[in-house]
Amino acid sequence: MATIQMRVSPEDLSQVPQGKERIPDPGIMVIFGGSGDLTKRKLLPALFHLRQADLLPKQFAIVGVARRPLGDEFAKDMREGIIDFGGADANDPKLAEFVSHISYFPLSFDDREGFGRLKEELDRIAKEKGIGQNRLFYLATAPEFFSGIVENLGAQEMAQPENGLAAVVIEKPFGHDLESARELNHQVNAVFHESQVFRIDHYLGKETVQNLLVFRFANGIFEPIWNRNFIDQVQITVAEQLGVEGRGPFYEKAGALRDVVQNHMMELLAMVAVEPPANFDAESVRREKLKAWQAIPPIPILNTVRGQYGPGIVGGKHVIGYRDEERVDPESGTETYAALRLEIENWRWAGVPFYLRAGKRMKKHATEIAIRFKQPPMLIFNRMQGSNGCGEIQPNLLTIRIQPDEGIALRFGAKVPSAPNMTVCPVTMDFDYQSAFGKSSANGYERLLLDAMLGDQTLFAHRDGVETTWALYTPILQAWAAKKPQVFPNYFAGSWGPECSDHLLERDGREWRNELGRSS
Ligand code: BG6
Repeated sequence: MATIQMRVSPEDLSQVPQGKERIPDPGIMVIFGGSGDLTKRKLLPALFHLRQADLLPKQFAIVGVARRPLGDEFAKDMREGIIDFGGADANDPKLAEFVSHISYFPLSFDDREGFGRLKEELDRIAKEKGIGQNRLFYLATAPEFFSGIVENLGAQEMAQPENGLAAVVIEKPFGHDLESARELNHQVNAVFHESQVFRIDHYLGKETVQNLLVFRFANGIFEPIWNRNFIDQVQITVAEQLGVEGRGPFYEKAGALRDVVQNHMMELLAMVAVEPPANFDAESVRREKLKAWQAIPPIPILNTVRGQYGPGIVGGKHVIGYRDEERVDPESGTETYAALRLEIENWRWAGVPFYLRAGKRMKKHATEIAIRFKQPPMLIFNRMQGSNGCGEIQPNLLTIRIQPDEGIALRFGAKVPSAPNMTVCPVTMDFDYQSAFGKSSANGYERLLLDAMLGDQTLFAHRDGVETTWALYTPILQAWAAKKPQVFPNYFAGSWGPECSDHLLERDGREWRNELGRSS
């Protein structure tokens, strides 16, 4: 298929305002679960990138908190993480300067008095560095510790400092079903006001996800056709080649629906489905997202599919099945793949099916939204078959590549030059972030950490949104839990998931789009 690339002209790029982002006020970031993987792989590299971009205040400190008795090794370990996962140069003087702001405080999360000592330690650091009372508490622990930490912060009066601002960032999973999410919301809001709570979903920090709103609402030509009159179906895919990467115990309790669908995929769906917000502020955006989610009727269990991978070949390498992964039950009933069909019953979307699928150990690594438009009402041109789809009349397709190869492609029919009888061939207009702007987008944490420090909640989940999405998925989780799947594993690693997932679309006379990724 022919592809037309799109570029941003150097003149246009030179016009991009070079003004700096706002820099947060001095403060201390306290990371609970500091010795865990997330801190080392994502959080510290992202914070260092912010420092490199001069977006952190001069008076700033990072305190890792965990049970292990670590001392200076913590800062050393974080330094390695910043080099290995953040691509920092070991000799960069900014790295040494940044690492000098990192320290560690050993604490058991249920030790209430210990939180008092932590408070004293934070006050000591603040005094030494002239930081003041601003504190950002980041909960990067296993979810079972969230409520205890919040309660202890409240008990030691760390949530409402007299001369500063405190906020709490909470990692996913936020609850494991509706009831637990409600309970956690209740516990968190008993200590922190909702305006102090930042429930993180790193998908919202991805440039491509934010660009969806820009694509829809900063261009005049798409919104008029962005509805049931023109759109035939929407497919959202989060396909990973990775397996559970040593996170067996976590994943056993989670599964694909909890891990990815209830949160990341619902955010993607919201970006496609929302009505134009009145403004781009936290309140307006969240309100529209909530309205879209609330318009989804209960999903019949018949419209859901679960799968689990067996051994297979991924990216040319033989890999083991899920049940053979480290610390996974050899008879596990946990799904590593989930697919479903849902509808949004409102004026814009009634009758348009949304197909969602997420899986580990899939054939390809690709997160993509594909919007398929309706065929023209009648076809007057030649349908002569040729290779590469030439001669077929294919419906217009808009694909939004969230990752990798971030970009947007639009397929349309074009006349083949000199071919007989107006032969039509599908061609693709392709906008690629990397080639257009000369840089790839960051992993999402930079944006979100900076926003949390600035107190901007636009890209964070609100309690009502979290509860609404859990309300949608809890009945499915309950039905799945009540009936252990008999046929697991039901797909080979390196495939496109279980066969029954194809039937979900075949029933509607449709099929999954499996040519994911950048068009060639
Ligand atoms: C995390 C999930 O939230 O998102 C992981 O826990 C998953 O299982 C990851 O691999 C996917 O994120 P990304 O940014 O790699 O698409």
